[in-house]
Amino acid sequence: KTPIAVLISGRGSNMEALIEACADPGYPARIALVLSNNPEAPGLETARRAGLAVHAIDHRPFARDRAAHEAAVDAALQQAGAEIVCLAGYMRVLTPFLVSRWAGRMLNIHPSLLPAYPGLDTHARALASGDSHHGCTVHLVTDGVDEGPVLAQARVDILPDDTAETLAGRVLAEEHRLYPEALATFLRDRNPHDVAP
Ligand code: GAR
Repeated sequence: KTPIAVLISGRGSNMEALIEACADPGYPARIALVLSNNPEAPGLETARRAGLAVHAIDHRPFARDRAAHEAAVDAALQQAGAEIVCLAGYMRVLTPFLVSRWAGRMLNIHPSLLPAYPGLDTHARALASGDSHHGCTVHLVTDGVDEGPVLAQARVDILPDDTAETLAGRVLAEEHRLYPEALATFLRDRNPHDVAP
């Protein structure tokens, strides 16, 4: 199993989906570390209860030195032996330092059909545009925010009565299915000799 790190900032429901997937002996990844920039992230407690190594590196003391925060994050990732990093609701914009350190080895999940709606409030923006569908994307992280090669996408129909909340709920259910699946495909393509037992 490939050791991965999962980076979160809050609830951590996508992290939970990855934890559940990794519990399957045939799944090609194991979680070596859950790391958050927010010491109060509820997801940290979930990860602790699952028996995972967790680490918080609060970004606030580093307010004037983003590079130093990222260097600390990178050191923790290296120390944990992570080979792949999965951003899962990690709400920090990364600098080219961390992006280049993990180029081709850092994945993100975003709640829109990229390249549509990078950034925040994606569900409200899709509704305001009168779109007929919305969805989520797993992609490799590059320097541009929510850019980078798409690994997988899932589509969700927009219903006439949808609010941003109801739409977000249905997209989130797809995220939980898509992220573990896209990560497994990515890892198996990377290590074609690793086959499930
Ligand atoms: C998810 O919907 C994720 O796609 C989104 O934040 C939420 C985190 O939820 N990420 C982004 O918007 C990144 N640009 P979670 O903490 O329950 O996984």
